[in-house]
Amino acid sequence: MSRKLSGIRACVFDAYGTLFDVHSPVASVAGKIGDDASAVSDLWRMKQLNYTWLRSLMGEHANFWKVTGEALDYALAAYGIKDKGLRDELMQLYLTLDAYDDAVTMLKALKKQGMITAILSNGSPKMLKAAVKSAGLKSHLDHVLSVEEVGVYKPNRWVYQLAMKHTQIEFANQICFVSANSWDAQAAANFGFQVARIDRFGLADENIPGRPDIMLDSLEDLVAAI
Ligand code: 2OP
Repeated sequence: MSRKLSGIRACVFDAYGTLFDVHSPVASVAGKIGDDASAVSDLWRMKQLNYTWLRSLMGEHANFWKVTGEALDYALAAYGIKDKGLRDELMQLYLTLDAYDDAVTMLKALKKQGMITAILSNGSPKMLKAAVKSAGLKSHLDHVLSVEEVGVYKPNRWVYQLAMKHTQIEFANQICFVSANSWDAQAAANFGFQVARIDRFGLADENIPGRPDIMLDSLEDLVAAI
C-alpha cells in the first residue's frame, strides 16, 4: 500500500465518524443511562446506518434526521429506556457533535496548501450546517454536500458523483476521499477516488469491492500524505 497520494486537487470528507464523534451525545448523558451507555450508542449508530441502506434498497428515502431518530428509538427500546426527555436531549446533541481534535488543524493546513475542501455526507443540510457551525469548521470548508440532493444514501454512486459536480473536478482520481467508515472508504475507492481511510476504530477491511489507497492513524497525518 502506497504511503502517499498524488495529483490530488480536492479533499472530500465523510462527516459522521470521520470529522464528528457520533458517540459524543451518549457520552455526555452517560450518567443518565448507566452501564448500557456505550452499547446504546453503538446500537444507535449501527441501526442508523442499517436504516439508510434498507431505505435506499426499498426506494423509501427519508432524510438523515428522521432515520437518526428512528434508529435512536430502536436502540432505546432495545435497552428498555422509555425517557422521552432523554430521547429529545440526545437528538439535540446530535446537532452539536464534538469534532475530533485534529479536524480544524488538518483543514487549515489543507487550505494553506491550496486544496479544495468539502464534506460529503448522509447528513441532511440542516444537520450538517449545525454540526459544522458548532465545531468551528465552516470557514475551512469550500462545500458541505448532502445526499439530500440525490435522495439516496451512500454508498450509491450518485452520492460520490456529487463531489465531482460541486468541486468541478472532471477526474475522480484527483479527489482524495477521506473516511473512517471502512465501507464508505471502500465504496469511494471503488467509485474511482483516491482514498485515505482513517483507522480510528481498528476495523478490518470489509469484504466488498474497493480498497483504500492509504490507512492513516489520524486526520492530521493526511496533510503529509497528499
Ligand atoms: C456520513 O455520511 C456515513 O455517517 C456517514 O457522514
